[in-house]
Amino acid sequence: MVVQEPAYAKINLGLKVIRRRSDGYHDLLTVLQTVDLCDTITLCEAPEGVAVRCNDPTVPSGADNLAHRAALAVQQASGGGRGVEVEMDKRVPSGAGLGGGSADAAAVIRGLNRLWGIGWGADRLQGIAAQIGSDVPFLLHPGTAIASGRGEILRRVAWDAAVHYVLVYPNVPISTGWAYGRLAKRDLTDTSEYAKFIGSTDEGPLDARQLFATLENDFEPIAEEVCPAIPRIREGLLSSGACAVSLSGTGSTVYGVFTDAGAAQSAPARMQAAGWRAFAVRPVMS
Ligand code: C5P
Repeated sequence: MVVQEPAYAKINLGLKVIRRRSDGYHDLLTVLQTVDLCDTITLCEAPEGVAVRCNDPTVPSGADNLAHRAALAVQQASGGGRGVEVEMDKRVPSGAGLGGGSADAAAVIRGLNRLWGIGWGADRLQGIAAQIGSDVPFLLHPGTAIASGRGEILRRVAWDAAVHYVLVYPNVPISTGWAYGRLAKRDLTDTSEYAKFIGSTDEGPLDARQLFATLENDFEPIAEEVCPAIPRIREGLLSSGACAVSLSGTGSTVYGVFTDAGAAQSAPARMQAAGWRAFAVRPVMS
């Protein structure tokens, strides 16, 4: 039997780091949104073991590969005895702040639940996902969520996100652990306009206008240190018609928010001419 799963990338619509925790992680506040740039994960039943193949040589193999780790975790938690061959068709750049590796891991968890007929419910899947990484629980399902804790506490939200995003990856991979390690203590607060806005949201739909007006990401100065092209990308997106620009995750992808489909469609070519990878994408809603 063969099972195929899309692994949608995510962007962070704002990211505020609140405090350092005693377990080495940080508490944060962010809005996560899946977008229709995706990898494709194909799972083939095998008599034993876990083997992973990938079309992108920059993706780590073995235990450093989150999809590999996810398959081993599911195999172990479900009692072992079955094998799988995982084929990863990558389109999402790695180390880009787009959750590519985490989305692959989430797709493997979802897919093995089907392939092996395990029948785990949402809570069990979330538990396994949280063991693999902070972004993996969100990426089990497409949509929008306000995330807190280390990223695994999710409040799914409905909203009218009828916008276009243009993602620009300047070919500078940034390690998430490295970026968190660079945060200075003085950067950690919960008092920004963004944090206030997110804290004031209730069960209703998100107010898109206010969200895009208060967008901020605490990793922007850190990403700019290693990627000096970021201010030029920001300017390029704004002059292409973006109404807001921000960094995704710990970077180095910068995205623009567009209300005009035509402007969003024509922006990537301008960005690609500067040597960056650029994608016009739409949100994937639940
Ligand atoms: O959860 P994940 O494995 O993706 O995180 C990678 C690293 O990023 C962690 O080991 C930690 O150093 C840092 N991190 C953090 N706080 C978070 C998420 C990640 O400090 N909320």
